[in-house]
Amino acid sequence: MAFVSVADLLGPAEAGGYAVGAFNANNMEITQAIVRAAEAENSPVIIQASQGAITYAGLDYIVAMVRVAADKSKVPIALHLDHGTDMEQVERCIFHGFSSVMYDGSKGSLEDNITLTRRVIELARPRGISVEAELGKIGGVEDNVSVDEKEAMYTDPDEAERFVAATGVDSLAIAIGTAHGQYKGEPKLDFERLDKIRRLTGVPIVLHGSSGVPDDAILKAVSLGVRKINIDTNIREAFVWAMQAAMEKNPKEIDPRKLLGPARDAATEVIREKIRLFGSSGRA
Ligand code: G3H
Ligand code: 13P
Ligand code: ZN
Repeated sequence: MAFVSVADLLGPAEAGGYAVGAFNANNMEITQAIVRAAEAENSPVIIQASQGAITYAGLDYIVAMVRVAADKSKVPIALHLDHGTDMEQVERCIFHGFSSVMYDGSKGSLEDNITLTRRVIELARPRGISVEAELGKIGGVEDNVSVDEKEAMYTDPDEAERFVAATGVDSLAIAIGTAHGQYKGEPKLDFERLDKIRRLTGVPIVLHGSSGVPDDAILKAVSLGVRKINIDTNIREAFVWAMQAAMEKNPKEIDPRKLLGPARDAATEVIREKIRLFGSSGRA
């Protein structure tokens, strides 16, 4: 099956009331784990690459790997740029095989974010490529911020309404209390804000920093209009911990396949659990 765009996957998710998982890949084993999990669950899936992943693996390698996976697969697969902050990188992805991009202008002013997101949409849309934007600041768990500072970073619903009306973006990533990385405590999500943003914008909402968010909070977010859920940290944990366990079990092992194979299996299992939680099993 050829690549589909993220918008192609979020339309049916909207109609069906579920969310599609967007899983970060950096290498062949994680790419295969994502595809194997989606196939086992008969689910649509989004494989996303960050700018860091592109620097590590190479844009051409990522596109080629995901294209092979999509061509051989019966489930619909989108290849999405995660947190594109560099306009040149966003353009390279649009022109070299991605089916969807995120332009992340959340660090700039609202006006600049609108202008630059519109520029990306003008390039992407005629090519059938969908665009996700970010409004509000989704930090990392390592950004030592107080509760008040955190709330100041949250997405303002009125600004979100203005942003979506001015850009016509396909989906919107918002800040409502999640953060990238491993949480120290339990994240508290601002569901009231999510509900308001969703009603004012009407676009599919994207939840970043979703690893470690309790299952009941994920289900509630989906019931309130979250349609794309980003997971990276939980895959990293499963992958590396399985690799470590294999090394501890046999410290003399020098065949990388004996270490990376169990890591790939562990990542597949975690991704399957997420797909089931998000409600997209059987929706391919
Ligand atoms: O949103 C961040 C993702 O987890 C990607 O992280 O930039 O280290 O690849 P990365
Ligand atoms: P986690 O690493 O916290 O799962 O966040 C992933 C993400 O939001 C990628 O954009
Ligand atoms: Zn993110």
